[in-house]
Amino acid sequence: MKDDEYATIVQTGPGTVAGRYLRSFWQPVYQSADLPAGRAKPLRLMSEDFALYRGESGKAQVLAPFCAHRGTLLSTGWVEGDSLRCFYHGWKYGPTGKCVEAPAERDGFAATVSVRSYPTREYLGLIFAYLGEGEAPAFPTYRDLEDDGVREVGGYRRDCNYFNNLENQCDPVHVAFAHRTSAFTEGGLIGVPQVTAEETDWGLALRASRDGVGVRVTQFGMPNLLHIKSSPSAEGAGWNDMFAWRMPIDDLHHNSFNIHLHRITGEAAERFRARRSKRPADLRSVQELGAAIRRGEMHVEEIKDHPDIVGIQDEVAQLGQGQVADRVNEYLGRSDVGVVLLRRLWLRELKAFAEGRPTKSWQWKSNISATVGIGADA
Ligand code: FES
Ligand SMILES: [Fe+2]
Repeated sequence: MKDDEYATIVQTGPGTVAGRYLRSFWQPVYQSADLPAGRAKPLRLMSEDFALYRGESGKAQVLAPFCAHRGTLLSTGWVEGDSLRCFYHGWKYGPTGKCVEAPAERDGFAATVSVRSYPTREYLGLIFAYLGEGEAPAFPTYRDLEDDGVREVGGYRRDCNYFNNLENQCDPVHVAFAHRTSAFTEGGLIGVPQVTAEETDWGLALRASRDGVGVRVTQFGMPNLLHIKSSPSAEGAGWNDMFAWRMPIDDLHHNSFNIHLHRITGEAAERFRARRSKRPADLRSVQELGAAIRRGEMHVEEIKDHPDIVGIQDEVAQLGQGQVADRVNEYLGRSDVGVVLLRRLWLRELKAFAEGRPTKSWQWKSNISATVGIGADA
């Protein structure tokens, strides 16, 4: 790969090919539970600002970040009904972005004004938006996440380029080292696997085979999605499904939006919820511990019983590469097939996209994954 290709593949801004390609998909922008009715929030997504609000009727909407009048932040305004009124001089915008009131202006003036509004949908506890050009593509749904069970919606912020994380999930060998003291070892994922990777209708399938343990398959969904199906967490329960979207904030920071479905119901679900709610509250954060480890103040093995030890381990590895991994001076081997194929797919699609040729229409299929082991966000 050429140096300039490495530089462009990680870009997220609206004026970049990779940023425009990312915007051609529906993307998660916020957790539903974090946005009460009647509130507005500023969003930073893919190096661009937006305003998000939830109308009093409950509908979430993404708008352009700044008022058309004199450009103050719309997210600092007031939600009125399903509209958003600007904080500065009270211009009021409906969910379509049309200005419906400009109080100090003549009649008819408001109708001449609008800001951009973005198609917005809510699904399984996440707010999604289409931030690209033209008409939004069909909204993708994931039937395996819709089943009955305990659905946990969560996520985290990581202060590095999202591609560090995408490559991490296409790299099964790191589980044997970075996660060697974690629930993964209890799940049987110990030892260095043989790795193969192949292109699928949805993205990539990564197979990690370990003698005597079986094959762990991880599915990567283009352009920025992970799907892990994992063994049941309770007796008699069905398989678990975990989806994680790695969503750039800008070129140096990203959020992960995760949905984890545990197929347990009834009493087993109650027990599971009770266990989850007992997690200690006064823990140091993943970011704080990760930074202390990278500064050499402690080793990751000194952390005992942190519920997100896997997150700390990934944080240490990914931020240890620098905020944007140095892809020019690396030294790849045969076990990096997943990383290599990921970059190849991305570059192929980016080239087609830049030249205005059709890109591949990625399709998720139910039950395409099967794995052994446990299903944390590895
Ligand atoms: S800046 Fe929004 S109404 Fe004036
Ligand atoms: Fe990991």
